[in-house]
Amino acid sequence: MTKKILCVVGTRPEAIKMAPVIQALKNEPWVNLRVLATAQHRHLLDQVLNFFSIEPDIDLNIMRPNQALTTLTARLLLDLDDVLLAEKPDAVLVQGDTTTVMAVALACFYHRIPVGHVEAGLRTWNISNPFPEEANRVITGKLAHWHFVPTEGSHQNLLREGVADENIFITGNTVIDALLVVAAQNIELPAQVDPNKRLVLITAHRRENFGEPLRNICHAIQALAQNNPEVEFLFPVHPNPNVTNIVNSLLANKPNIHLSAPLDYVHFVAALKRSFLILTDSGGVQEEAPALGKPILVLRNETERPEAVEQGVAKLVGSHYGQIVEETQRLLDDTTAYQAMVKGTSPYGDGHAAERIVNVLREHFS
Ligand code: UD1
Ligand code: UDP
Repeated sequence: MTKKILCVVGTRPEAIKMAPVIQALKNEPWVNLRVLATAQHRHLLDQVLNFFSIEPDIDLNIMRPNQALTTLTARLLLDLDDVLLAEKPDAVLVQGDTTTVMAVALACFYHRIPVGHVEAGLRTWNISNPFPEEANRVITGKLAHWHFVPTEGSHQNLLREGVADENIFITGNTVIDALLVVAAQNIELPAQVDPNKRLVLITAHRRENFGEPLRNICHAIQALAQNNPEVEFLFPVHPNPNVTNIVNSLLANKPNIHLSAPLDYVHFVAALKRSFLILTDSGGVQEEAPALGKPILVLRNETERPEAVEQGVAKLVGSHYGQIVEETQRLLDDTTAYQAMVKGTSPYGDGHAAERIVNVLREHFS
């Protein structure tokens, strides 16, 4: 008898990281696979779904301009009630720490449907940072049945919270599965970036960086671009209006700063490969950069991904103007400091995470 497995995706990173699991489940004869898009992101999600040729069976089309967290959560829960009643899945898979993930875990708990949490066990141990993601992870970690953790550190985090060891599986992060496939393609960067110059790639979108911190980050990039006219800066801007308004007002129309719309995954990976170094507050990019041997300066004060920092391939620089300028300039000027951060090791996975997740589910249901 087949088992109905419902994979849920809401935002860009969830789709990138769930795609390898969806692809692996498609090959399993015992699985009746269903894909639910909450579409907490619309444009960013569709970009990824199109790229991986994933057609959702159900689409909640939940995104609204500048959506508030409470409204988003309430609307998700109401719609999920209908979906779970109609679909009656045997298991539901969620990925990461977004509001979609937390709402699905809670809705499934009320409907007594077991949840598998992909990328479980990440913690900063500071409930306000990242906001609201740390709370989303903690709540999902309490409610999930299967915990697919990327590293031994995330395994230990869950044990510390009292999760039963037999429900935790170290799989690696599925982002490396996706990355390795896409990075093998030889794609040119579409942007106006001068191919003969060094490239600094930038992304920023975290809620705790909205306002003054993001302004500081932009002022630092402005100063770095002005002091290093021979270096190119590429910043694909996240469509959250709290990001676009500040970034466009402070960084538009500078000769060596290229602001662009969010890049397709394949082009973003091309930009990662082409970059000299990366400045980001993104979770996924913190995982991808080390796998491609790219030094990364993290625009945050703490991270739930400490492995890259411990291995010396990532450094936390927060949103402090002086620290961002100083650390970036050091890597641009000092070859020894730069080489010390180039290792090409991936603490987050070997490209076989989805396979391991499917093995666990197959064994459970057989
Ligand atoms: C969300 C997640 C965050 C994740 C990030 C990945 C929550 C609370 N936040 O942040 O954990 O790191 O996605 O990118 O779950 N927008 C568009 N088009 C899009 C996507 C977003 O216009 O395709 C705009 C809309 O105005 C939307 C706003 O961005 O209301 C915010 O989207 P939301 O999903 O609430 O938060 P993000 O900041 O994108
Ligand atoms: N990404 C992309 N295009 C971009 C910027 C990022 O495809 O213009 C990819 C990136 O490679 C990574 C994921 O989006 O896999 C990270 O998403 P984001 O930074 O929005 O969210 P987070 O990982 O912080 O939750």
